[in-house]
Amino acid sequence: MSFTLTTPLYYVNDKPHLGSTYTTLACDALARFERLQSRDVVFVTGVDEHGQKIQRTAEQQQLSPQEHCDRVSDRYRELWSQWQITNDRFIRTTNPRHLELVEQFYARVQASGDIVRGRQTGWYCVGCEEYKDVPADADQPDCSIHAKPLEWRDEENLFFRLSRYQNDIEALVNRDDFIAPASRRQEVRNFVAQGLRDFSISRVNVSWGLPVPGEDGHTFYVWFDALLGYLSALLDDGGEVDLERLTTAGWPASVHVIGKDILRFHAVYWPAMLMSAGLPLPKHVFGHGFLTREGQKMGKSLGNVLDPEKLLSMCGADAVRWYLLRDMQFGDDGDFQQQRFLDLVNNDLANTIGNLLNRTSSMARKWFSDAVPPADCASDESHPLAQQGQQTVEIVLDSLPKLSFKVAAEAILQLAISANGHLSETAPWTRMKQEGQEAAVGNDLYAVLESTRLVGVLLSPLVPDLSGRILNQLGHDPVQSDWTTQLRWGGLRSGSALPKPSPVMQRLELDEDL
Ligand code: MSP
Repeated sequence: MSFTLTTPLYYVNDKPHLGSTYTTLACDALARFERLQSRDVVFVTGVDEHGQKIQRTAEQQQLSPQEHCDRVSDRYRELWSQWQITNDRFIRTTNPRHLELVEQFYARVQASGDIVRGRQTGWYCVGCEEYKDVPADADQPDCSIHAKPLEWRDEENLFFRLSRYQNDIEALVNRDDFIAPASRRQEVRNFVAQGLRDFSISRVNVSWGLPVPGEDGHTFYVWFDALLGYLSALLDDGGEVDLERLTTAGWPASVHVIGKDILRFHAVYWPAMLMSAGLPLPKHVFGHGFLTREGQKMGKSLGNVLDPEKLLSMCGADAVRWYLLRDMQFGDDGDFQQQRFLDLVNNDLANTIGNLLNRTSSMARKWFSDAVPPADCASDESHPLAQQGQQTVEIVLDSLPKLSFKVAAEAILQLAISANGHLSETAPWTRMKQEGQEAAVGNDLYAVLESTRLVGVLLSPLVPDLSGRILNQLGHDPVQSDWTTQLRWGGLRSGSALPKPSPVMQRLELDEDL
């Protein structure tokens, strides 16, 4: 079954930051999970390259907009490859095929009678690329997000007749399965309930945009063009640019994963545009929370922006992936705290999981000829660790489709904690000294090793490299395709060789601020 998921298409006004990395890592975990569930995944990411914000950034850097976009979009591509993001598509909205698609889409919307001429007056934030609602008597308002003066605009534009879709959009956002998490629904419902107003989809003062066919001097509003990037990405498969092909190319998306700030565009404007063009709607829109750093908003002026490249080179992908997915409730805002980051990585991964594996594997090697011990519990599903293993699998299979990474990670960790507990309770190091206890010790060691195998398998979508190292330490290959068989208790074969242990996760020490 096909499963299309998308990250937002990131603005190339600046190099990638931790916010975009966060969304992309989460989507990567979901994409990896769905592949293991045998879904035919199309994981889309890419960049949003038009608009005034990018035009201005290029000017400041004395580069042509295209040159600037080429540079930043290369950085995104490189960064995603360094983080081992498994995206299937990377779409650039400056790709000429995208223009073809935008023109086709516009023709459909026009044919539906949804394009009208109008006058747009209001306060515009170039940083947000959005008109802002401000009190009528405001003299020179600032953007509440960018803390920069808004710009007054008064121009003739083309408008999309969003107001015609009031009832359909109201029905859509009132559904309980369209916007996730539930905590984000009300805000959108309130916005829609106030009455939808037509919105302008062209600009006369922005040269760095796609030309509107038949409208001299007009370029498409960057959001109109950007949302269509999701469709272009799917048709970027070597075939024709033809909207008719979309439904066999992975559309509709199963989920658009986005930050909470751009929920309105995805849950209101975008579905209406698709309705107008006669195309199916995405199944879900997930609006995640924002990351702060040590309780403060990250920003250039505060000089506290976390650089994903530095983070990766100093700490490695596993550590960061684990921390972000395990500690942040993806739907809510989250705070990056350096000490907590170190503590969790060291406690969870290096100690609880890594040490458990090494200790147990060393004992098994020492007493059972470098191999997995013989054990009755290999086929005993009533063993407490087998039972907890099964419950853990169920929790992971239930929570990951909901993007509840934290719930999944905590359950996996809990299994390792229980396995550690089992080792302490059964104290094989003491029992092994007693007469006739070898079989019992073998059984206990097996149960713990088998639990670490399950932990290793279940970690695969979240921290793939670490998962591979854990399984390798147990003489197994990394999880690669359908994982159903690997999720069953008893996968370790008694008598199979256990390689010489080496730490699967180094402790993380940082003597400077990230
Ligand atoms: N170009 C538009 C999206 C178009 S989608 C067709 C855009 N780009 S963006 O680069 O400004 O933002 C991309 C995403 O990064 C947004 O989802 C935004 O919410 C997210 N984040 C920006 N800062 C963030 C944090 N501090 N924390 C988490 N996510 C953040 O909007």
